[in-house]
Amino acid sequence: IRKEALAKIEEANDLKKLQEIKVTYLGKKGSLTSVLRGMGKLSEEERPVVGEIANKVREAITEEINHKTELLEQAELDAKLESETLDVTLPGRPVEAGGPHLLTSIIEEIEDLFIGMGYEVKEGPEVETDYFNFEAMNMPKGHPARDMQDTFYITNELLLRTHTSPVQARTMQQYGGAKPVKMICPGKVYRRDTDDATHSHQFTQIEGLYVDKNVRLSDLKGTLDKFAKSIFGNDREIRLRPSFFPFTEPSVEMDISCKVCKGAGCSVCKHSGWIEILGGGMVHPDVLEMAGYDSKVYTGFAFGMGPDRIAMLKYGIDDIRHFYTNDKRFLTQFHHAQ
Ligand code: PHE
Repeated sequence: IRKEALAKIEEANDLKKLQEIKVTYLGKKGSLTSVLRGMGKLSEEERPVVGEIANKVREAITEEINHKTELLEQAELDAKLESETLDVTLPGRPVEAGGPHLLTSIIEEIEDLFIGMGYEVKEGPEVETDYFNFEAMNMPKGHPARDMQDTFYITNELLLRTHTSPVQARTMQQYGGAKPVKMICPGKVYRRDTDDATHSHQFTQIEGLYVDKNVRLSDLKGTLDKFAKSIFGNDREIRLRPSFFPFTEPSVEMDISCKVCKGAGCSVCKHSGWIEILGGGMVHPDVLEMAGYDSKVYTGFAFGMGPDRIAMLKYGIDDIRHFYTNDKRFLTQFHHAQ
């Protein structure tokens, strides 16, 4: 039994086999166990002799099984370590660095310019009330000018703001009618347009508002001239054309001079050498009064510009949808441009 068992243990090459061998010899129905059980039938003289031999065999088998178990466990561990090794000399995979979106960069550039002129940067809600988006901007219910801005309504009174102008009224209200206001407000705006190369149902605007004693149209012109030269270069000229907005009187649209181009790749400035980039004017007295300012004491100018359009013009981008489809080939082109 001993020889046979030790040979089998020697041969066993996994822990499961070893367990089977243990059961075969030492288990309840194992062969060594039945020898020990049969001892009762032996004579007085035979019993201690056989008993001693049987115990020695059991010890030997047990020891050998324990020893082999250790060996197999060690081998298993070695194999596991071997298969899980890391090659620390392999070069790492590069992590791509992101960068600010072109619209973010242009908005920050414009913010910096106006902060330098003493403006505060404000924010307002994109889900706006009918009151601030229209009424406080001198467009009561049923006013035909509401049609200029096709609107996403949420309820009768709630909508997605169609422009950043409501932040004019919010800021003036917050200032309480007693202090001068000098603020810009960048943000997203929404209009029910069909998307194409020059229209997006969601785009960005930057509002500007300056209210104080003795603010005049010439102040607006000087401010916008500074803006145009700073963003597009000192060789640019601006011109103001009369226009209409219900919340400014008089109202203007500003064009910026540009080099006329022709043919493929020419998407802006094809014709006159002027391109429209923003609307503005003197804050309507009714807008000042509704927001708590005495229009006999305070005057102000306001303007609203589109960073999408400004970025398109500055970098020769021919389709507004590029800003919102997030094609990395487009986005990464501008990570070093600014
Ligand atoms: N809110 C106007 C628009 O979206 C722009 C504007 C702002 C005009 C401020 C005048 C003064 O078209």
